[in-house]
Formats: sequence, C-alpha cells, structure tokens
Amino acid sequence: MPLIEVQGLTKAFRTYKKEPGFGGALRGLFHRRYEQTVAVDHVSFSVEEGELVGFLGPNGAGKTTTLKILSGLLFPSGGSARVLGYVPWQRHDGYRRQFALLLGQKNQLWWDLPARESLELNSKIYGIPRPAFERTVADLTELLAVRDKLDVMVRELSLGERMKMELVAALLHRPRVLFLDEPTIGLDVVSQKTVREFLRQYNSRQKVTILLTSHYMTDIQELCKRVIIIDKGRIFFDGRLGEIIDRFSGFKILTLTWQTGASFPAVDFGRYGELVEQSAQHIQLKVKRDQVIAVCKELLDKVPVTDIDIQEVPIEEVIRRIFAR
Ligand SMILES: Nc1ncnc2c1ncn2[C@@H]1O[C@H](COP(=O)(O)OP(=O)(O)O)[C@@H](O)[C@H]1O
Ligand SMILES: [Mg+2]
Repeated sequence: MPLIEVQGLTKAFRTYKKEPGFGGALRGLFHRRYEQTVAVDHVSFSVEEGELVGFLGPNGAGKTTTLKILSGLLFPSGGSARVLGYVPWQRHDGYRRQFALLLGQKNQLWWDLPARESLELNSKIYGIPRPAFERTVADLTELLAVRDKLDVMVRELSLGERMKMELVAALLHRPRVLFLDEPTIGLDVVSQKTVREFLRQYNSRQKVTILLTSHYMTDIQELCKRVIIIDKGRIFFDGRLGEIIDRFSGFKILTLTWQTGASFPAVDFGRYGELVEQSAQHIQLKVKRDQVIAVCKELLDKVPVTDIDIQEVPIEEVIRRIFAR
C-alpha cells in the first residue's frame, strides 16, 4: 500500500477583492466582493515508502498549499488524502508523531533562544526521552556540520545554519514522512550542498519518505528520481525526471567543431536550427529532435568537422519552457 495516497484533492480559497480607489473601498464596506482562488485542483498521486519525490511548479502553483493540507494545517475543500493511514486534517496524535513539515520561508525555532534550548522545547512537545534526544541532536548536528552552533542564539545564526537547525528540529522525533518546502531557499551554495547531501543520506539510510519542493533544479536533479509537476493547481506531469526531457523537449543541442586555422564554413547554419553559440572554431545549434540525424549528415558533408557532439537541452531550460507556456 502506498504511504501517501492523494485523490482529487482540491482547495479553494475565498479572498476579498479590493476595489480600486476610495469609492471602491466604500462600496466594499457594503458589498463585499469575493474571489475564489482554486489553489489545488483535483490533485491525485501516490507515493511509496522510501521515495524521495520532487514537487515542482511555478510560483503560486499550489505546492505549499498541498503540503500544508498533507500536514493537517489546512482543510481541503474536496478530495481525500491518507498518509501512513491517517487523514492528515483529522490531526491524530499518532500522525503528528510520524511526520514533519519544514517551511523554508518560515521560522519555526524560537528566535531568542540558543538553538539547543529551542530544540529541547521541541523535544518536550513530542515527549522525546532525554537520551534519545541527546543522541539524535548529536548525530544530526554532526551530519549537518552545526554542532558548534548549538549554543548560539537562533537570531544570530546565519541563514544556512538556521535552516540546518530547523531540519534538526523537524527530525528530532524521527518522522517517517517529511514534507520539505524550499528547504534550501536563499542558502549559500555550500550550505545548499550540505543540506542536499544530508537529505540524500537521510532518505536512503532511514527509508524516510520525502516530498520536496525546491526552486533549485540542482536539488531536484541530484535528489529526485521522480518528480510531480503542478501548474495552476493541477498535475501536469508525474514520472521520472529524465522522461520530462523525452516528452517536453523537442530539441537537441548539436555542437560542431572544426580545425583551428580553417576559415569559417560558408554554410547558412540558421537553416538547420537555432543558433546557440558560435566562435571561429565551433558552432552550437538547437536542432529539432527528429531532424538531428539528417542535419548531422548534411553538415558533415559541408563542414571540415573535427568533432561532433549531440546533447539534450538542459532540464532547467525544458522546465522553464513548460512553465512559460
Ligand atoms: N491563505 C490563502 N488565502 C488565499 N489565497 C491563498 C492562500 N494561500 C495560498 N493562496 C493562493 O493559492 C495559490 C497557490 O499558492 P501556493 O500553494 O503558496 O503556491 P506555491 O507554493 O506553488 O507557490 C496562489 O494563487 C496563492 O495566492
Ligand atoms: Mg510555496
């Protein structure tokens, strides 16, 4: 049985629509105008135990809302969900003890306390026995390289250090399911890498199931075999990351290199594809997938090629194009 099972999940927010100007504000006093935003629109998917799934989508796509529903912070307007057999918004204690939600843009630790005390408070909330607490904190802070920061006030930690402490706090009770919403946002490259490595290890060693959103494709590429793309509240794609390229990238990148000293070939390269890059010795073209072989054949005849290279369009660009539709 899947560990996370979501079916037709829907969330509509009703928001008050402001009318422009003073007259509008005045009218608004008497006739409130509401607008409905469907943040999550009949979303269905399931996740098996131990999977690390990337949840992608442009801003406002409904990712955070979905994670909040699965964490029981929001009630859905429709549909169903079960995580570890629990209905999240019923907020069973048994569920609370087995999952964690980390919101990268929000602070969950006490700002005015040293990290260690903040963690202790968290451990009391979950009723974690002292020895287990000590062991977990030692392990996690070691892995995340923040062991020497435990006595620093949270407000004085760097963003990266704070996020790592947030992770420690989220994992104190050893949850089986983790919802991570932008856990690396705004972090410096080194911290991003540490957090990423940590998540990879944590997922594989502890068999923890993770649903992760990130704006950084590096996170997704290095961590997630499977991604779910959501756009305007709807699922647009659910499958292997590599499949996105097969399905949504109509092009390949063809690079031709010729001898140094040879004159620039008298070829109208623009006929074969979109020019990406060119120098005195090479040219890079974006060529339609189904024409790559034909174009290669023709160009090999016309250009004194010393090297040829065919590559996929970077996934980052493919995703950007999907979102820009
Ligand atoms: N509390 C709320 N009240 C009204 N609208 C909201 C609320 N939370 C989110 N939304 C709207 O729902 C949509 C999805 O938001 P969100 O889930 O935060 O997207 P994402 O995390 O993918 O950027 C957006 O249009 C957002 O403005
Ligand atoms: Mg979000």
